[in-house]
Amino acid sequence: MQIFSKTDEFISFRKSLRTSSIGLVATMGNLHQGHLNLVQNALNQNETVIVTIFVNPKQFGPNEDFKKYPRTLSSDIEKLKSLEEYNKIILFCPESPREVYPEGHSTEIEVKNLDDSLCGKNRPGHFKGVCTVVHRLFQLTKPHIAYFGQKDFQQFKIIEKMTLDLEIPIKIKMIPIARDKDGLALSSRNQYLSKEHRIQATTLKNALENIVTIAQDDFRQAIGLAKERVENDKRFQYIEVLDAHTLKTPSMETKNLVVAGAFILGDTRLIDNILLNLKD
Ligand code: PAJ
Repeated sequence: MQIFSKTDEFISFRKSLRTSSIGLVATMGNLHQGHLNLVQNALNQNETVIVTIFVNPKQFGPNEDFKKYPRTLSSDIEKLKSLEEYNKIILFCPESPREVYPEGHSTEIEVKNLDDSLCGKNRPGHFKGVCTVVHRLFQLTKPHIAYFGQKDFQQFKIIEKMTLDLEIPIKIKMIPIARDKDGLALSSRNQYLSKEHRIQATTLKNALENIVTIAQDDFRQAIGLAKERVENDKRFQYIEVLDAHTLKTPSMETKNLVVAGAFILGDTRLIDNILLNLKD
């Protein structure tokens, strides 16, 4: 595994790379099995896999956890090395935001329409920060395929749309959610949870599952149930039942639903979602 922390060194290496297929897995580090599943998929499908680790300041709000976000580079490297084909991995972990956003960098990318629900509604500017960094990472790494997790479904949809609108010649693939034994979606933020909150955390997945069961027969009733859950339990920031393609209220034409929620325990915000194909 080769490791680069300076952008100029990474760029000259990338220019010399002559492999027929390059997969990209962009992360903010503190790797867990969810991230490793993305890397494993990329390894299975590509000759070379670029993994990036960069905690992107632009996607954190002023009161969010940018400063305390877990930075665990040496154990991340060990985890990548535990993968069978780790010698196919190139790790790019820019040592500071300046490596990604050089002095004077002033272009930001915003995808409209898909960001007015779910996390977009609750974290103003977040997806602009995500698109800006992902576009930058696409330009630097120039992959053929980029892998993203279903865990951040809205992020996936927005990146997919950015790639389409800007005609970026990269295939965008979604990998299913990796979960703990009790069903909690794996997240770098789970480690912030106290013992008590860790037990409560499964409430989110359970609520989404209940709503999905109802949505199978009647999405309107599911929307009502979602509203009720949020009104009755202040720990839910939102639960929404949306058309999975438009991220808008479903219509009679809707074929695929996403049931997504955000749950707040102490200072920790957890997200999860379930996709559902509607019967004809
Ligand atoms: P991060 O939260 O580190 O996640 C990196 C990638 O791993 C994302 O595509 C995310 O959806 C995926 N992922 C995280 N937990 C997962 C799980 N339990 N199952 C499946 N996939 C999971 O998402 C980001 O970083 C950033 O916003 C980034 C795209 C790197 C831009 O800064």
